[in-house]
Amino acid sequence: MFSRRTSWDISATPLAEAVARRTAEGRPLLDLTEANPTRVGLGFSPAALREALADPRAARYEPNPLGLAAAREAIARYYAERGHAVVPERVVVTASTSEAYAFLFKLLADPGDEALVPEPSYPLFAYLAGLESVRTVGYPLRYDGEWHLDRHGLESALSARTRAIVTVSPNNPSGSFLKADELALLSQVCGERGLVLIADEVFSDFALDPAPGRVETVCGTPGVLAFALSGISKIGALPQLKVGWMVASGPEALVEPAMRRLEVIADTYLSASTPSQLALVALLARRAEVQEPLRERLRRNLETLRAARGPGASWQPLKVEGGWSAVLRVPRTRSEQEWALALLEEDGVLVHPGFFFDFPGEAYLVVSLIVPPEEFAEGVARLGRRLEG
Ligand SMILES: Cc1ncc(COP(=O)(O)O)c(C=O)c1O
Repeated sequence: MFSRRTSWDISATPLAEAVARRTAEGRPLLDLTEANPTRVGLGFSPAALREALADPRAARYEPNPLGLAAAREAIARYYAERGHAVVPERVVVTASTSEAYAFLFKLLADPGDEALVPEPSYPLFAYLAGLESVRTVGYPLRYDGEWHLDRHGLESALSARTRAIVTVSPNNPSGSFLKADELALLSQVCGERGLVLIADEVFSDFALDPAPGRVETVCGTPGVLAFALSGISKIGALPQLKVGWMVASGPEALVEPAMRRLEVIADTYLSASTPSQLALVALLARRAEVQEPLRERLRRNLETLRAARGPGASWQPLKVEGGWSAVLRVPRTRSEQEWALALLEEDGVLVHPGFFFDFPGEAYLVVSLIVPPEEFAEGVARLGRRLEG
């Protein structure tokens, strides 16, 4: 009765079961995986939100499939303020970054086609692609003091069915920015094979450790059809507003037909709401109000994490060039799942095991850097004791 593409294994993992048991028993939990900015005391005040959502133009329904002119102009302004030329005509407003992926997979791929995605990366890709009957194929990122795209790994992942290469910059969870030489490689491969570059830049306003050569956006990369994806979820700590976007750039002979097709795809749903798009205009202009405290929290938690590592400890926080998460390399004396279960059951601390993000090897744990600092410090202290004990 049901489609093959929805035949997921949705049974709970042992870690999810252990969390459910603990919660049902009313036992406390220090959740170092919390990545929802609205649950950790960050984001716009209710008054700022009310004001932004009170635009009287929201009473009228005059949809534009590609997004309201005011919203597309505000998005172009956001890029201009960061030094990148974007014209509103090349912006497509969506109801989330996730929806932008869905539109792009519809635009670029037929059932059974493939999109390359980085490993480790964001676990939603398999679902976003799978729901469009597209297969994700991983290409590895390697760590040697910083994360790098592995040229050989990338080339091995290509096939006759590859349609697009996805890059996430900075990546979730590795925190690594795409570098200029890596962008040059991706553009070359895309150019030679007629592939499209999709760059998820939702965390690009949150740079942390220095990252020489980092790419802030792929908008304007010459010679390749590229889509830069972002949204107010992270830029404004507002996942509940449900507004994302993509910016198309590249050779006009490719961008123009892509925009015409995207307009039809977007017209089929008209999903980005008028009140949200109008609010976006005001909230994007006020983003510094939420981004500054957010950056302050990310830096503080990162320092706490680094300070928690005792001298000669066998675990290590990896470099974090940007984003909202940190990766710890931990001893392989236990599997990632065993570490995560021990931390939960014996220390009351919840972390993500690396396999959740498809790390190419073991053993890694991932923590969110937006957790309230006192909770983060206590969780990390317990984590350090467990890993060193
Ligand atoms: C890399 C990445 N892209 C996209 C998103 C989701 O963005 P949206 O809420 O706009 O769908 C997330 C959310 O965690 C993310 O980590």
